[in-house]
Amino acid sequence: MNVTTVTDGIFRLSANMKDILFEGLWPIPNGIAMNSYIVKGGNKTAIVDGVCGWDGVPETLFEQFKQINIDPESIDYVIVNHMEPDHCGWIENFRKIRPNFTVVTSKKAIPLMKGFFDIDESSIMPVGDGDTLDLGDGRVLAFAEIPNVHWPETIATFDTKSGTLMPCDAFGSFGAIDDAPYDDQLTQEQIDFFEREATRYYANIVAAFSQPVLQAIKKASPLPIKIIAPGHGIVWRKDPMKIVKDFVRYANYQKGPCENEVTVIWGSMYGNTELGVKPAIEALEAEGVKVRVHRVPEDSWGDILTSAWSSTGLVLAMPTYEYKMFPPMYAVLDEMCKKKFLNRKVFRFGSYGWSGGAQKELDELMARHKPGWEFVEPVEFMGTPREKDFAAIRKGCTELAQRVKKAVASKS
Ligand SMILES: Cc1cc2nc3c(=O)[nH]c(=O)nc-3n(C[C@H](O)[C@H](O)[C@H](O)COP(=O)(O)O)c2cc1C
Ligand SMILES: [Fe+2]
Ligand SMILES: [Fe+2]
Repeated sequence: MNVTTVTDGIFRLSANMKDILFEGLWPIPNGIAMNSYIVKGGNKTAIVDGVCGWDGVPETLFEQFKQINIDPESIDYVIVNHMEPDHCGWIENFRKIRPNFTVVTSKKAIPLMKGFFDIDESSIMPVGDGDTLDLGDGRVLAFAEIPNVHWPETIATFDTKSGTLMPCDAFGSFGAIDDAPYDDQLTQEQIDFFEREATRYYANIVAAFSQPVLQAIKKASPLPIKIIAPGHGIVWRKDPMKIVKDFVRYANYQKGPCENEVTVIWGSMYGNTELGVKPAIEALEAEGVKVRVHRVPEDSWGDILTSAWSSTGLVLAMPTYEYKMFPPMYAVLDEMCKKKFLNRKVFRFGSYGWSGGAQKELDELMARHKPGWEFVEPVEFMGTPREKDFAAIRKGCTELAQRVKKAVASKS
């Protein structure tokens, strides 16, 4: 991986991670790039964020110091926008080669610095809204608190000289990157790829924090931003407002209405519930809504949440299992509620053997999380579905699609 120049005096260092579950949980089939930035002033040098401490990664970063003739000894400030170990886990290794440096971070990060790295307050320069750091030669960095994007202590760093915003997790995306990390080097097809990866990143990592994201964007809007250089993904130089607009759109999906889409999530042990899935899809498509289909537990949570994040409607098809919902369905729905997938239009159907119980647990889940989901009358059948059940499933899906279209139309 080569170091690249973001703009005069700012360099992007980066490491790709593949074949891991991000946060120990989310599959990243296309990997992820983790970015770090060297900012050189007239007499001081800072590094903004670091990339994680996984095996081999610190070495990748140190190798990149050499490429731009940066002696680690010359780094005066380590700016920690965010304490999550994917951005600061490397400090442990960095201090082996550079024992004394000043950490620039938020006040709220001070106890975390102690807890994660045993770094005392005496080595920390706390910064908050309106604070600046002069690196010399007109290179003045300004800081803004952007709490809960993604942890409570998060800040963003803005280089006032070049108009470069380094917002860490905000405006990031999944997707490993090789030699072309800038939007001005990419084809439309590649930009589209990163847009899909940004949606997945947002739905999996950022979704729960959508209101803080909107507040952070509002806070940043008066800044003369020319470049957006996030902690993950590509750097936006040609059209930085594209990723800002995309993030506003993703954040607004939280409360809905979202797109003219329905995500069908289904699971089935012996194929009875499964028999209803095809008629359900046909009825939805006949109404002209886009349908995304996922099976639990086969499809990853990451894929399911990505589809559901932009969908105004959901179809949940699952049988009763031990007097409750089919377990992987419960797990996915519980996670969606915790991540605040709000105000969806929903239709549920499924098979049972003798007592049922899936519906009761779904009702309990809704009562607990109160996500504001609006339900079409559910359809349950004993054993295998008959013609009347298929008709009821089609009717439920038609009704759902109509409610989705109406909600989407009310947006514009
Ligand atoms: C492990 C297991 C647990 C079940 N628990 C219940 C139950 O508590 N109540 C009930 O009405 N049916 C229960 N059933 C029956 C299923 O809900 C029924 O067979 C249904 O038709 C399965 O739908 P499927 O073919 O879509 O998997 C259970 C079945 C299995 C295999
Ligand atoms: Fe994070
Ligand atoms: Fe991150």
